Amino acid sequence: MTDTLDIALPKGRLGEKVARLLGEAGMGAADLREDSRALVLESDDGTLRFFWVKPADVPIYVERGAADLGVAGRDVLAELGADVYELLDLGLGRCRMCVAGPGGALERDGVLRVATKFPNIAARHFQNKGRVIDIIKLNGSIELAPILGLSDVIVDIVETGTTLRENNLQVLEDVLPISARLIANKAAFRFKYAQIKAVNAALGGALQGGN
Ligand code: PRP
Repeated sequence: MTDTLDIALPKGRLGEKVARLLGEAGMGAADLREDSRALVLESDDGTLRFFWVKPADVPIYVERGAADLGVAGRDVLAELGADVYELLDLGLGRCRMCVAGPGGALERDGVLRVATKFPNIAARHFQNKGRVIDIIKLNGSIELAPILGLSDVIVDIVETGTTLRENNLQVLEDVLPISARLIANKAAFRFKYAQIKAVNAALGGALQGGN
């Protein structure tokens, strides 16, 4: 008898894309929609169990073994430094983490005030550059910070660039290219190796099929 694999999926925009890819890989579940009210859903063949969590929580479920597998953005993985295996780049949710602000904002002397949802990534980036910063941790609408004078720059996700453009801000430095990754709990990877490899291969195949 094979064990069920528990898979943590990220709610929101990325989750919709992941649900579609799972369907294309033949691992879908009836009603596997990101807005579904059911907390746990079984795959049609009963071998997989999916549940939706906040994107930033996926690595926590996987690292602690509450989920065997998960799908998480590289931004979230880098921020948390989660102790998990990264199995596959799903190529979904492509965007980049950038330093942004008004033109010339990095040229000013002294301590740089940086607003971000990603304090660890921001701290590492500026530490590597030898720049002293003051991190202001926010939870959303980061672009407002330099506009209102709360910070000099932001470290945030840029996808189309529209938000920056509409707020007269610009990319000043690239920090990290981002896409969604299939991640695995380290113990589960050993004990459920065959099943995890099968999921990995099916997703890889669906991606190669041009999705
Ligand atoms: C993200 C990010 C930017 C925006 C970038 O915000 O923080 O604000 O998307 O996308 P764009 O380059 O295509 O304009 P999100 O929508 O996740 O909301 P948030 O304000 O809660 O961070």
